[in-house]
Amino acid sequence: MSLPPTLPTHNATYSSAEYWEQRFETEPEYEWFRGYEAFRHLVERDVPRNARILVLGCGNSLMSEDMHLLSGYTHIQSTDLSAVVVERMQRRAQEKQLPPSLAWSVADMTALPFEDGAFDAVVEKGSLDCFLTVVRDPWRVEAPVAALIQSVLRESHRVLKPDGCLISITFSAPHFRAPLLRGGGAFTWRVKHETFGEEWPYFFYTCRCGLKALDEVEAEEATATVRASWLRHRGARAGCRLAATFCNVLTAPHSPSSSR
Ligand SMILES: C[S@@+](CC[C@H](N)C(=O)[O-])C[C@H]1O[C@@H](n2cnc3c(N)ncnc32)[C@H](O)[C@@H]1O
Repeated sequence: MSLPPTLPTHNATYSSAEYWEQRFETEPEYEWFRGYEAFRHLVERDVPRNARILVLGCGNSLMSEDMHLLSGYTHIQSTDLSAVVVERMQRRAQEKQLPPSLAWSVADMTALPFEDGAFDAVVEKGSLDCFLTVVRDPWRVEAPVAALIQSVLRESHRVLKPDGCLISITFSAPHFRAPLLRGGGAFTWRVKHETFGEEWPYFFYTCRCGLKALDEVEAEEATATVRASWLRHRGARAGCRLAATFCNVLTAPHSPSSSR
């Protein structure tokens, strides 16, 4: 059985920029996971109407358009690495007479061309997942892939306001995704998750800046305390060893050479 032309035979192909360029040449629209309506209530709860929103890896999804038409968001910058899809979405926005504050532009989510603190919310749906399709074991994300994910998170954190939030929508369960989003405590955000969708649960992660989870702060403090007491202990042991060596020298029986 042959697959439809847009579907790759290997999952890892989703990490290739060329794949997306080719796919978008012929595909007018496609919605990964679920359309905006399925998680609209969660976005409306977390993101105020006047928010400046950045969408990463927007593809040919109608999410940005629906965020405007259904929820009334007016400042949405949608970005993608693919120039083909950005042009397609710009044309669509013109045809639909969407306001110019809904803009589409080419941007690599690992190096965003926006100023620090420019957005209240950054939203990604299935875009981080592309990088992870090359991973062989989700329990052990290989260093180069982890570095790519961290660069997207670092960039998102940088362009967010101090109380802004990153929203990440994915099929990836919390035991895999939450540690990646926490980034080893490198960010000021608190990561929490919810599910949506009836027949198949998808995950909606909110990383709220300035609210680093108390348990994370406590975990860091606990680590610092353990390290400090270990250093003290090591220092004390080194002191004992020095004292013991000193005592040994004082109490050691004199060798024939030293007794002369
Ligand atoms: C699985 S699709 C998701 C599309 C859309 N967000 C949706 O929900 O339907 C992944 C998207 O990420 C884009 N992408 C891949 N690497 C990227 C990068 N480094 N920077 C920006 N976009 C990228 C692809 O071009 C593609 O549009």
